[in-house]
Amino acid sequence: MRVNPSQEIPTRDKLKGSIPPGPIGGNIVSNLISFRNKGMIEYFMEAWQTYGDIVRFQMGPIENYLITKPDDIHYVLVKNHENYTKGVSMKKLKLSLGEGLFASEGSIWKRQRQIMQPLFTPRSVNSFAGMMVEDIEAMLQRWEKPTDSRTPVDINQEMMRLAMGIIGRTMFNISIDQEAMQAASAFAYVLEFVSQQTIRFVDIPMFIPTQANRRFNASMRILDEFIYNIIAKRRQDLDANQQNDLLALLMRARDPETGEPMSDKQLRDEVITIFFAGHETTAQALTWTLFLLAQHPQEEAKLHTELDKTLYGHTPHIEELELLPYTRMVIDESMRLYPPILLFARETLEPDTIDGYHIPAGAMITLSQYITHRHPDYWEQPEAFNPENFTPERMAKRPRYAYFPFGGGQRICIGNNFALLEMALALSMIGQRFQLRLVPGQNIQPRMVGTLRPNAPVMMTLEHR
Ligand code: HEM
Repeated sequence: MRVNPSQEIPTRDKLKGSIPPGPIGGNIVSNLISFRNKGMIEYFMEAWQTYGDIVRFQMGPIENYLITKPDDIHYVLVKNHENYTKGVSMKKLKLSLGEGLFASEGSIWKRQRQIMQPLFTPRSVNSFAGMMVEDIEAMLQRWEKPTDSRTPVDINQEMMRLAMGIIGRTMFNISIDQEAMQAASAFAYVLEFVSQQTIRFVDIPMFIPTQANRRFNASMRILDEFIYNIIAKRRQDLDANQQNDLLALLMRARDPETGEPMSDKQLRDEVITIFFAGHETTAQALTWTLFLLAQHPQEEAKLHTELDKTLYGHTPHIEELELLPYTRMVIDESMRLYPPILLFARETLEPDTIDGYHIPAGAMITLSQYITHRHPDYWEQPEAFNPENFTPERMAKRPRYAYFPFGGGQRICIGNNFALLEMALALSMIGQRFQLRLVPGQNIQPRMVGTLRPNAPVMMTLEHR
């Protein structure tokens, strides 16, 4: 719900053609203090509710503009995308992801995307369904014990383990062991560090041995060792030529101009990017979906009915997923309320005009799925969980960029088909066999730590259906 702007705030009409409204003129430091104190989600939500669909902030040395209307998002991501780079928003993330597909730009990005794209076409992705089903089945078998003993499990951990196992097998032909779990927890800290850095007053150079920098550097060492090991093992593998996973594709690729293969550093950057972009997001999306279903028995029953009458208890085949529209609607609605990447940013190359407002060169533009997915102009009862928001009729009435969990334009998530397939298979297999219930007394809230994670373990009991 919108709150009324306070009296001293200029109205949007007065400012149209000049700079957007926002906590300007105010103290730059005080903006950062409230940003830190409230947390990123609350701070941006409040700013949007107070100032409207485009808000200007001065965040330390950076001018930041939050845009929330679908047309403006379309303008930045698609229509005038050439004027927008990932720019400064990737500075910290590059410390861990390097020049991998997520963080790189320009010709490196273009070449790498072309190399990797063939593995992510719907057809290629569908070929991974068998492995996904095996891993989901193994998880469900593992769930028998806690089901019988009525021991609660942390569903977020379970989903992380599942998604990590799937990405490891499908992309790199490795099985997830203790070392991988350790690498994942090192990466979890890296993401937390990167989020914290965004809201710091001063940029402390990485070589200064603060406690946070030391922990970050130690985490990076664990991660690098893990990733370089995967690459080294593959180099020694005599059957490497027979492999058809992402790592093989990357290793076989040759630079069209020089004919050179990728350096170990570039391989490392791509492996780490896919390993983490490919499991953390999907795991969070599945966690929030199960969390929402556990609290909405009517929607849960509707899902179960669809699964029962379409699949008759057997493991879903890939063609059958199209016959499960409600399952997909549940996933879409869950990512509306809890988008795993809840915001991302671009930097303007040249000055521009968005929605009639002047935007200078070098400004940061923040796009937030979390906010736009709650915009009352496009969503009735935005805070309610209602999969019916995604009936074909309702979707047709909504602008394309009212919903963009996977981003859009040329930098759209390369793994979107992969994630949707994995989620549909997992949700349908879980829903056929289990009913999950939240252990009472928990206060689970979303928290932004690079992705939208729960603020605590999500403890659930498992029951056979
Ligand atoms: C529910 C799951 C997922 C969500 C919500 C998600 C979301 C996103 C978003 C919003 C972006 C665009 C960021 C930007 O434009 O700045 C993105 C990019 C990316 N995602 Fe995903 N993602 C998911 C799953 C995956 C999976 C499974 C993979 C890999 C297997 C993956 C790999 C990537 C990569 C490599 C990029 C960068 C693409 C480029 O810039 O060319 N993602 N993702």
